[in-house]
Amino acid sequence: MEEWTVKVEQSDNKKEKPDTEQLEFGRSFTDHMFVMDYSEPVGWHDARIVPYQPLTIEPSAMAFHYGQSVFEGMKAYHAQNGDIQLFRPDKNLARLNHSNDRLCIPPIDEEFVLKAIKQLVYMDKEWIPKAEGTSLYIRPFIISTEPYLGVAPSHHYKLIVILSPVGAYYKEGINPVKIAVENHYVRAVKGGTGEAKTGGNYASSLKAQEVVGKQGYSQVLWLDGVEKKYIEEVGSMNVFFKINGEVVTPALNGSILSGITRDSVIEMLKYWDIPVSERRISMEELYQAYLDGQLEEAFGTGTAAVISPIGELAWEGKKIHVNEGEIGNVAKRLYDTMSGIQYGKVEDPFGWIV
Ligand code: COI
Repeated sequence: MEEWTVKVEQSDNKKEKPDTEQLEFGRSFTDHMFVMDYSEPVGWHDARIVPYQPLTIEPSAMAFHYGQSVFEGMKAYHAQNGDIQLFRPDKNLARLNHSNDRLCIPPIDEEFVLKAIKQLVYMDKEWIPKAEGTSLYIRPFIISTEPYLGVAPSHHYKLIVILSPVGAYYKEGINPVKIAVENHYVRAVKGGTGEAKTGGNYASSLKAQEVVGKQGYSQVLWLDGVEKKYIEEVGSMNVFFKINGEVVTPALNGSILSGITRDSVIEMLKYWDIPVSERRISMEELYQAYLDGQLEEAFGTGTAAVISPIGELAWEGKKIHVNEGEIGNVAKRLYDTMSGIQYGKVEDPFGWIV
């Protein structure tokens, strides 16, 4: 990168903002976006904030064919005192580079991109919604743009950051959802791309989601891709269970995404002296805990939904009812504290807010 500055082109055609009381997730986009190009031998260059607009990319661009792309998701919050707050953004940029490495995409300068994101969010700060539970979703992504049909790492990329004012990710909000345990399709296997945030993981999850959706379930619970025995994730989120007083989440094993909300939940539980362990957990064990009356809570964690309680799990013709379909105490406390920190309503003893 020859010069570490961001050129700015202001939009002179400001868009109408959506009604913040009716916000859906990821349907509207702000006035500006950040763009930076990569080519060899220059490296990343031409960092700029420009009006949000369609891209002109060759149909032969590699991202369209072989999916060499990565993305991140984070949020800017309108805090109670008027501040604009980001939640652990350094973690997202570190994970972007981790995904880059897996997808043979050249690394970005995390500090520089974070500065650019702050500048972009500040420019479009009027778009940060203020209604309860709303925020500005930040979507950085990198696509391979070289016009070439050979299967090889691209020599050209674009990093783009777009912003979207969002409400709740699931229409259920914080109400517990019904989940089907997936025994046929798998999300990822060790050695695959499960621990990278790349579009292909999400594309390949759609079929299972579509099948169970027709049966009235919100999401699937993913099992490991080898034995289809051990629990991995739920929908596009990490998953936690409270069993006999201990909170358990599947250990990162190479096929599970290292969620930032997941990490924050573990830290918070430790801070509260609530027993928490990262380990392998099978469906058999979970079902037995349910039969023994020891399955106290189940919930998913992610940036988009924060905490999403699970009220029911369907597995091999059996039904597991969790906490009588109500949100559990730990999930509720985590949700309240996490979102309290994000909106500046609760003190942040962890130093997570930027
Ligand atoms: C999350 O933030 O939980 C996700 O990964 C969902 C996102 C892909 C919309």
